[in-house]
Amino acid sequence: MTQELTSPSPAPQAPGTGRGPGWWRDAVIYQVYVRSFADSDGDGIGDLRGARERLPYLKDLGVDAVWLTPFYASPQADGGYDVADYRAVDPLFGTLQDADDLIRTAHDLGLRVIVDIVPNHTSDRHPWFQDPELARQRYLFRPGKGESGELPPNDWESVFGGPAWTRTDRGDWYLHLFAPEQPDLNWDNPEVHTEFEAIMRFWLDLGVDGFRVDVAHGMIKAPGLPDIGHGAQAQLIGAQVLPFFDQDGVHAIHRAWRRLLDGYGEALGRQVIGVAEAWAPTAERLALYVRPDELHQAFNFQFLNAPWQADALRSVIDASLAATASVGAPTTWVLSNHDVVRHTTRLGGSLARARAATLLMLALPGSAYLYQGEELGLPEVTDLPDEVRQDPAFFRGGRATGAAGPGTDTESAPDGVAAAGGQDGFRDGCRVPLPWSGELPPYGFGPGGSWLPQPADWGGLTVAAQTGDPASTLELYRAALGLRRRLPGLGDGAMSWAPAPDGVLAFTRPGLLCTVNTLGHDVELPAPGTLLLSSAPVTVAEATAQLPGDSCTWWAI
Ligand code: NOJ
Repeated sequence: MTQELTSPSPAPQAPGTGRGPGWWRDAVIYQVYVRSFADSDGDGIGDLRGARERLPYLKDLGVDAVWLTPFYASPQADGGYDVADYRAVDPLFGTLQDADDLIRTAHDLGLRVIVDIVPNHTSDRHPWFQDPELARQRYLFRPGKGESGELPPNDWESVFGGPAWTRTDRGDWYLHLFAPEQPDLNWDNPEVHTEFEAIMRFWLDLGVDGFRVDVAHGMIKAPGLPDIGHGAQAQLIGAQVLPFFDQDGVHAIHRAWRRLLDGYGEALGRQVIGVAEAWAPTAERLALYVRPDELHQAFNFQFLNAPWQADALRSVIDASLAATASVGAPTTWVLSNHDVVRHTTRLGGSLARARAATLLMLALPGSAYLYQGEELGLPEVTDLPDEVRQDPAFFRGGRATGAAGPGTDTESAPDGVAAAGGQDGFRDGCRVPLPWSGELPPYGFGPGGSWLPQPADWGGLTVAAQTGDPASTLELYRAALGLRRRLPGLGDGAMSWAPAPDGVLAFTRPGLLCTVNTLGHDVELPAPGTLLLSSAPVTVAEATAQLPGDSCTWWAI
């Protein structure tokens, strides 16, 4: 059922960054994983009111926008990515009025708001799937193979493990690229297109500034749903085009949505955007999602997957910038999200590297997404007991994933799902609720407990503990975001590589030079300018700079 608002109205226009057309081109967008951000009512689950109360913290941090993960009515089989009603707020997270209040408060603070849209699949509790007639038209049902249809229609595997097909008690099978509770929609049916455009309008009417498009590479399947003929499909996701991912047909959908977003934005004098969560095999194929008539941004998972090595980082940065430049789009950098191992842990369990990687990311041309808690340097929680885990992949018997991007040996995952190296490849370890204050769990997360247990030693990592400590990761993020706002050379624009010793990267932006020492030891080089900010203490004596191992430094030039 859809909740009604008494007085829905378009939200006020949020100010831009003032750096020219396209606020998204250099925006820093903070991902709020609603369930784990802040809890207002003591049920141990983060909610919209809790998030709204903490918006001043995000304003003060210095981000431009927030992205809220799904808070829609859902049985929560996959953390809300199984939506039963796209126009209703799940009571776990609040009401539609709470969503409206949050959007208004954000806009009053000058923060934009992006919400998730989940178009590849719905919940199996969605009214369309519950109605057998509608379900047959709007989802992907097929007869089974074998003498009595007892075998799945093809060899596709679910991203969460096991077959991508489940047999109904009527004998046929339906496709679910994710959990069985997430049946894939049939995008050959025009009614599906119409419905998603209406859902977008609904949230745009409420004032949102854009959509993060879940599985933006998944809606269109190859005609005939052909077998893949490969037993370890997780290895192939993101490494090649598959009959169910990155099919060329998805681009027509994104073009239609761009028309909708542009038309809507023009009518209201606002710029509303779409950001693709798309796992494409190459930077060039990813760039197709951000052609001028498609979405505005696409997460750069190849950067996220890159190992902490100067050469590897440089080549992924070059490839990404070249590919997006060829279509006139900015690159959208990201290091952490709710599907992958937090980068403090992923980069060798090194907070020093994580801090350096963040400063590198924030100095690159384009926009960047931050995942809640990375500004506190939170590590992945790797010792959650099995009985508290909720990642559906854990219950599908096996690792959730496996495929890293081509040419990497990191443990990132297809479609952003899980990443080994944290806790057996599952995703609860990066979703532990945030520590805000105090010495003991729930560390100010809310008046009750927290849906996943927080480590006993997070007292020193809380927002309160780090605030005002110049050596803290939180103050590093604040300083970096403050400089990024103030220095016209950061954000969108050009960059050039500068000479640097092996293992070190150096590049210039207008008025700024950035050095990154990926080695585990100090490197000495002529001081390139005046020290602005560093992820680790740098010493400069007699025009010689001593760059600490695993550090990134911004210099004014
Ligand atoms: C990507 C989302 O980020 C992830 O959390 C979800 O499990 C899958 N898409 C399926 O919706």
